[in-house]
Amino acid sequence: MQALGNDVFEPTVSLSRHKKEFGEFGGVNASIESSTTFTVLHAGDMPQIFEGTLNPEKGACYLYGRSFNPTVRYLGRQLAALEGTEAGYAVSSGLAAISATFLQLCNSGDHIVASSAVYGGTFALLKSFLPAKCGISTTFVNIADLEAVKAAITDKTKVVFAEAISNPTLVIADLPALADIAHARGITFVVDNTFSPMIISPAKWGADVVVHSMTKFISGASDIIAGAICGRGDFIRSLMDLHLGPIMLLGPTIDPKIASELSLRIPHLGIRMAEHSRRALAYAQRLQQEGAIVQYPGLESHEQHHIIEKLRNKDYGYGGILTLDLGSQKAAEQFMERAQNKHAFGLLAVSLGYFETLLSMSGSTTSSELTEAEQKAAGIPMGMVRMSVGLTGSLEQRLEQLMESYTAVCGHKHLPYRAAEVVRDDKGQLQRVASWDSHGSELLPYAADSVTASAAATTSRLGSADSGEEASVPARSPSSDAPATKIRRVGAKEVVYTRLAP
Ligand SMILES: Cc1ncc(COP(=O)(O)O)c(C=O)c1O
Repeated sequence: MQALGNDVFEPTVSLSRHKKEFGEFGGVNASIESSTTFTVLHAGDMPQIFEGTLNPEKGACYLYGRSFNPTVRYLGRQLAALEGTEAGYAVSSGLAAISATFLQLCNSGDHIVASSAVYGGTFALLKSFLPAKCGISTTFVNIADLEAVKAAITDKTKVVFAEAISNPTLVIADLPALADIAHARGITFVVDNTFSPMIISPAKWGADVVVHSMTKFISGASDIIAGAICGRGDFIRSLMDLHLGPIMLLGPTIDPKIASELSLRIPHLGIRMAEHSRRALAYAQRLQQEGAIVQYPGLESHEQHHIIEKLRNKDYGYGGILTLDLGSQKAAEQFMERAQNKHAFGLLAVSLGYFETLLSMSGSTTSSELTEAEQKAAGIPMGMVRMSVGLTGSLEQRLEQLMESYTAVCGHKHLPYRAAEVVRDDKGQLQRVASWDSHGSELLPYAADSVTASAAATTSRLGSADSGEEASVPARSPSSDAPATKIRRVGAKEVVYTRLAP
């Protein structure tokens, strides 16, 4: 699909134009067609329907529920409107959508280039299942490294695959750049948009196929397992091919009653996504002020913040997922237990997109398919909590509960450090930039600081305090043996933390 850019497509407008179906008796909602088999008026039509030369799109009636069902097709049209593609179809799970897509696009001996930052189940499918069972191999790459993506492509590559926002590390894929790379070699670009429905519309940035786990935000109630595949009409139809279609032959069919439920949730998906995002941004900003190691695409410190700014549809924020590194598995467990058991802030459970906040440690759960080395390479520390931000309670109440849980585990509420952005001069010496950053304390000009003297003394030492790439965070307890200065990379910036008090 050709990249169209940001002005052409808006999902709410597209959904409003999608042809609404009314119920059989004039109901405001489409009726549910629960039948698995359908009568044919003329016996002579049967063979043609089987061959696919007659189908519902060509005015013929339906045949059998595994291939086509009117309620499932209605949801499919909604999904196409949501993603701005020619066609869409719903299946029984997100992994069914992903595996059917790969199996349709690749034959034995073919090759996939995939982001190393993907959901653990997708990783296992690509790393273990597809090579062992189907002879389809995958090279995993850092999807932010476009040269590495190009270098991994071979003559056998049929698919480039990325998650628009990755699970759990929140890497933002540069969709138009990746689409260009794939299309230059005649390769299909497949994007998993589970984390960012409404927020990012991958097809308008060049994705050929967009897949979803509808189990997450699209459902919104953690009560349905389902998946979506959106793309060109001929691709969607090929999934139902009688001889080689993976939906037809492997049978990951969705129940029409479930399809109908999902249909009723899509009209308010945009409102829900905007609210998930509003709260997630507020949590991320507050945690960052506290000095926490928080990743959220809406923070300027996020490494690909500029990419999501370019890609996102403006009304829905930056998504409902953030990660918080508490430094150790034990601290992460304490934080989650306190948040759940003391405050009912959220629930200690895997998955995401629920109306309540969900807290899980990716390393030992949804990314446990990755080895320790693979987790390290993917940037998943054991103390990392993935938070899927919910919609219940007031924002103020939830912020208070969150920060109490965090500070109870991680120490003093106000860090005894002040943070300042620094740059390196041409001799490699660190120099402060003019303004203070607010990591860990209120924003104050340096000169007005009450500890000007000690901080100034530290400043003069800064020129040689060159640990450069040090990744450690400032100590969170005001103990006197905490180091006087620490240097940390925050996104593209370097920040020096100066201890204010013993
Ligand atoms: C990004 C992503 N894609 C796909 C899946 C798989 O979806 P499902 O559980 O619906 O099969 C998940 C599940 O967590 C996911 O997070």
